[in-house]
Amino acid sequence: MQRTRRIGMLLGMMAILPLAGCGEENLPLVSTNQAISPTSTDMAHARQLIAEYGCVACHTVPGVKGPATMVGPPLEKLALRGYIGGVLPNTADNLVRWLLDPPAIDPKTAMPDMGLSNEDARDIAAYLLGLD
Ligand code: HEC
Repeated sequence: MQRTRRIGMLLGMMAILPLAGCGEENLPLVSTNQAISPTSTDMAHARQLIAEYGCVACHTVPGVKGPATMVGPPLEKLALRGYIGGVLPNTADNLVRWLLDPPAIDPKTAMPDMGLSNEDARDIAAYLLGLD
């Protein structure tokens, strides 16, 4: 009796395990930055935008030439930061919101509204979050 039950259980597990394996493979990779994943063309475009908008006047940005400024925080390893501007949880969508209008998020911030278009803000956010 005992032996038959154990074999039954084993067979049951063998039937379930492969299914569980398949299920996991099909799970999407969860990441806060999943909504925007830049291609290398986007990255080059974003670097150009960052230079054109003059972000480098206040920030050092890896991959973009500019003066050794410390007006604003260096933007390297931005993905590892917990909060944007010290007030907004660091997600891709929140970064876009910040870039579009920082004083709307934090009226006391020294970062001005840079007049970014939605599309440019998304491209720049994707670039900044992709930096490590
Ligand atoms: C006039 C200076 C100035 C310019 C120009 C400027 N920033 Fe900022 N930025 C700041 C300052 C100062 C902060 C810190 C704000 C705070 O903590 O309230 C900041 C914060 C940020 C943050 C959040 C960083 C963090 O660690 O929390 C990001 C991202 C950012 N800026 C991106 C940009 C981008 C992209 C541009 C160009 C479109 C830009 N900034 C232009 C001054 C500037």
